[in-house]
Amino acid sequence: MMKKEIKKIITGVKTSDGKGVQLTRIIDSPTLDMLDPFLLMDAFGSDEPQDYIGGFPPHPHRGFETVTYMFAGKMRHKDSVGNSGIIETDGVQWMRAGKGIIHSEMPEQEEGLLSGVQLWVNLPASHKMSEPSYQEINGDGIPKETRGDDCFLKVIAGKTKNGTQGAISNDLVDPLYWDIHLSQHARFDDQIPAGHNAFIYMIEGKVTVCGAPIIKNQLAVLSEGNHIEIKSTSATARLLLVAGKPLNEPVARGGPFVMNTPEEIQQAFADYESGKLGQQDSLR
Ligand code: FE2
Repeated sequence: MMKKEIKKIITGVKTSDGKGVQLTRIIDSPTLDMLDPFLLMDAFGSDEPQDYIGGFPPHPHRGFETVTYMFAGKMRHKDSVGNSGIIETDGVQWMRAGKGIIHSEMPEQEEGLLSGVQLWVNLPASHKMSEPSYQEINGDGIPKETRGDDCFLKVIAGKTKNGTQGAISNDLVDPLYWDIHLSQHARFDDQIPAGHNAFIYMIEGKVTVCGAPIIKNQLAVLSEGNHIEIKSTSATARLLLVAGKPLNEPVARGGPFVMNTPEEIQQAFADYESGKLGQQDSLR
């Protein structure tokens, strides 16, 4: 057994995307370019409508997956392959863009708190041009595990040591995605597959890992190891523990496209412009 420690703390940068949505970019930021297979992570959270009301009008993706997890509020999504729906509080959408989709992600509210995170998970070369697909689960559909009276977790992906199996499956990077809630002085421990890259994102409160603190809104990149132990040092703490198998492939980025080579990025832009990636008109 080898314990994971905190290797690096990331706070991200404030930026905006879509039509003026205010967010913090934590992965794909100056201090953390990527954490293979994770390409990007944005956190958004505001009760000021002007910070989110513009939403993310139609835009394309190719070559990876987007994972949206809502902490509060509602987002409506619609895409060029005919899917649409609303991701509500506590709901998750795990979307494989594959060879390409065009979609919109718009707030389904005009006031109140909208908050959540979006994570981009890379696809291996063998699956970058696969068919787009969705796994969408509302809050009730996410398996939960209670440990004593001071710890419970929502298992979005991966399997806990007690055998709770996550709602989402992905055999490409074998992801683990847990939403962990702790009371004061609670201890949490579990196994993480050796060789996976892993991080903690603090949603609320404070915890320590091997004595080193992480506070709200920070992301902690974890060291190698196959075991994690987390201690709560605040009245309540809530965090995401996320891990995945690195792909170890070349990464070429071009805005909403992530491929293996610059030529494939050029091809993605050409396909988008010629309408091969999907028809935008269907979204209006
Ligand atoms: Fe998107």
